[in-house]
Amino acid sequence: MTTPQSIHGIWTARWTFILAATGSAVGLGNIWKFPYMTGVNGGAAFVLVYLLCITAIGIPVMLAEILLGRRGRASPINTMHKLAEEAGATKFWGGIGWMGALAGMLILSFYSVVAGWAVAYTWLTAQGAFTGESAEQVSTTFGNLLANPRELVWWHTLFMAMTLSVVVHGIHKGLERAVRILMPLLFLMLLGLLVYAMTQDAFGQSLAFMFAVDFSKLSGDSILSALGHSFFTLSLGMGAIMAYGAYMARGQNLAKTVVTIGVLDTVVALMAGLVIFTIVFQNGLEPAAGPSLMFQTLPLAFAKMPGGALIGTVFFLLVVFAAWTSAISLGEPVVAWAVESTRLTRLQAALIVGVIAWTLGVGCALAFNLWSDVKFSVGNLFSLNFFDLLDKLTTNIMLPLGGLLICIFVGWVMDRAIVRAEADLHHPQLYRVWSFLVQIVAPVGILVVMLNPLLQ
Ligand code: PFF
Repeated sequence: MTTPQSIHGIWTARWTFILAATGSAVGLGNIWKFPYMTGVNGGAAFVLVYLLCITAIGIPVMLAEILLGRRGRASPINTMHKLAEEAGATKFWGGIGWMGALAGMLILSFYSVVAGWAVAYTWLTAQGAFTGESAEQVSTTFGNLLANPRELVWWHTLFMAMTLSVVVHGIHKGLERAVRILMPLLFLMLLGLLVYAMTQDAFGQSLAFMFAVDFSKLSGDSILSALGHSFFTLSLGMGAIMAYGAYMARGQNLAKTVVTIGVLDTVVALMAGLVIFTIVFQNGLEPAAGPSLMFQTLPLAFAKMPGGALIGTVFFLLVVFAAWTSAISLGEPVVAWAVESTRLTRLQAALIVGVIAWTLGVGCALAFNLWSDVKFSVGNLFSLNFFDLLDKLTTNIMLPLGGLLICIFVGWVMDRAIVRAEADLHHPQLYRVWSFLVQIVAPVGILVVMLNPLLQ
């Protein structure tokens, strides 16, 4: 195969790939989802399994995804077609790209609804809505927001429009500029909040909740959630990182790159968890509150600290930005495919993707009010509202399945010499470890965890 070029361009510098991929990875998954999942799944044992999944499965799979993107130099759908052809394998491997494109749109739909909550909270905090409020009042405010379909749809629409406006402009003018400033700022703000949390009495309790492991709290279901979340938080299994890899220059050290992204993502999640659980315990709140957790805890801290309205506004704004840089990467694979393979322009493609994701998102918003009684169930395996259905279907099934197929393709289907050259891991030992993880550990781990609920 001759060295192909991406028609969408190349990152302007090495570190812009790291920034963009970190922008994709760090998002609501870290600040909103990780803490509430830790709460729902009983704390430290979940955190431990999650960390294991990130190290033994997530980071190696990320390297595999980037490698595929950089070799294919196209959208995940076309990359997988090309590379399957190159390997002399069936074109069904293109299915990885298709499933990823679908997962991206599904995730974007519910993601935009939650990001909309963060936009609403930026607005509310800026108006001083939480100043001096009690835990009950803060939680009532959130309940009122959820109960109001019109408002939810409005904030969701606003966020979706923000996302599309960047996707339309391609990678240079929109994305790179945004992540360069916003990601460091978010990190600093979280650090500030962590320092605040450390001054509170409940910090020790928060530490214990997150790090004192008690395996009796671990169920098969929470192991699957930890695995699914490690894919979700690193943006793996659906082609987002593969799409970004297609715009990556040669010669960049992949091992260092993926470890950097993995560490940054994990540190942000752990910091957010520590901050949120400190506020939970300090105020006698419920750690297992679920998706509302972040919105019922952080405003309380801002209500109490001096200058809280200002700090809170900036913080929620940064959460919105973190969600924004992730949402963009959810739309990119399918939009890039449409630009390559149909006659649509980037604008038209982004609009179509946006309308589909927006419509599904409206269904997710209504799941909190008008459609709260509408449940989707299969036997007695599960019974979920539309929002939870999309979340579980993508996070617990589609992303790990995508990851599994990527491991099999890179580990067993592609030519070993090509994989070795593309991975470009300078130490033979490192290459051997990575190969072992991608060929054996990750696929077996994913299979066991995914099949486990069916076997019980
Ligand atoms: N990684 C993002 C987060 O943690 O918020 C969410 C996400 C983005 C998932 C892109 C999947 C993806 F492809």
